[in-house]
Amino acid sequence: MKLLILGGSGFLSGTLARLALSQGHDVSVLTRGQRALPEGVKPILVDRKDRAAFSSTLQNVGEHWDMLADCICFTPEDAEQDIEVFSGLTDHLIFVSTDSVYQEHPRPFPVSEAFEQFTKLPYGQNKRKAEEVFLTKGQSLNWTILRPGHIYGPGSELGCLPEHSRNPDLLEHLKAGKPLRLVGGGHFLQMPVFSEDLARMILDCAGKPSSYGQIFNAPGPDIIPSWRYYEIIAEHLGVELEVEEVMISDLLAREPARLQFCSHRVYSTEAAQKAGVYVPDTPVETGLKIHVDAKLEA
Ligand SMILES: NC(=O)c1ccc[n+]([C@@H]2O[C@H](COP(=O)([O-])OP(=O)(O)OC[C@H]3O[C@@H](n4cnc5c(N)ncnc54)[C@H](OP(=O)(O)O)[C@@H]3O)[C@@H](O)[C@H]2O)c1
Repeated sequence: MKLLILGGSGFLSGTLARLALSQGHDVSVLTRGQRALPEGVKPILVDRKDRAAFSSTLQNVGEHWDMLADCICFTPEDAEQDIEVFSGLTDHLIFVSTDSVYQEHPRPFPVSEAFEQFTKLPYGQNKRKAEEVFLTKGQSLNWTILRPGHIYGPGSELGCLPEHSRNPDLLEHLKAGKPLRLVGGGHFLQMPVFSEDLARMILDCAGKPSSYGQIFNAPGPDIIPSWRYYEIIAEHLGVELEVEEVMISDLLAREPARLQFCSHRVYSTEAAQKAGVYVPDTPVETGLKIHVDAKLEA
């Protein structure tokens, strides 16, 4: 396939680019050129926020892509830009949205895509507005929307919950035997997804009519309390995990936007399964060990 990735040198987008290359695809990536690109991709350098330059650059490239994965669509304006620029330039556009679109409380268990109560927090609200643009104005494109929860894997920092979310010092902290301060004692349930699995899901959607016009949750296979995520890392390091509880109300008084972490994040994957799309399946123990080893080798 000829693929275009918006992003392509970041955490998820870089993982996707490398996996696609390893599967023999022809991969173009669009970035501002601020980070090193995976070897073997074809670069397109432009800032998507410069709408005129974005549009003219892509017209000048003059390519048609079998599939386009937008890993950097955050607002309804970005989604409108996708529809405007890529209708006719790609057979299938996949938008990486987020589980943060869902209302935090109350929510059913598991949360399916049919649950249509949405967050009021800015990040998730803007992603939802972008989804709505595809739903209401995306008729000129085949599109699919994926909603991953916490994504982990080589290329990102470890940590899935405040106060140790994406903490670059997490391994040193654990090795030093210091307790972790976790909101709610780390009891919120999560389904972390391994980045390479999510990349595989994106590639598996490509060109599948059963995925057109669909929104799919994209969690990992295991439902774990967040403290277990940290315990797996501690076990791999051969140290004990000690947790100090941070009161939910204290955290939210300080950082109200952290509400997205203060709910159980348990999602159904029935819709993707029914569409015959690959659903992430790397056990969290296996994926986290790969992630920790990559950090130790870095
Ligand atoms: N991490 C999670 O747990 C999680 C959970 C759910 C959903 N998501 C979603 O997953 C996606 C994350 O993708 P990622 O990990 O690849 O992100 P990332 O690590 O932040 O990388 C961003 C990529 O986009 C490029 N870029 C950034 N701004 C740009 C611009 N204005 N114009 C052109 N290129 C630009 C960057 O390269 P340059 O800097 O060189 O331009 C880089 O290649 C997001 O859509 C996020 O909402 C993440």
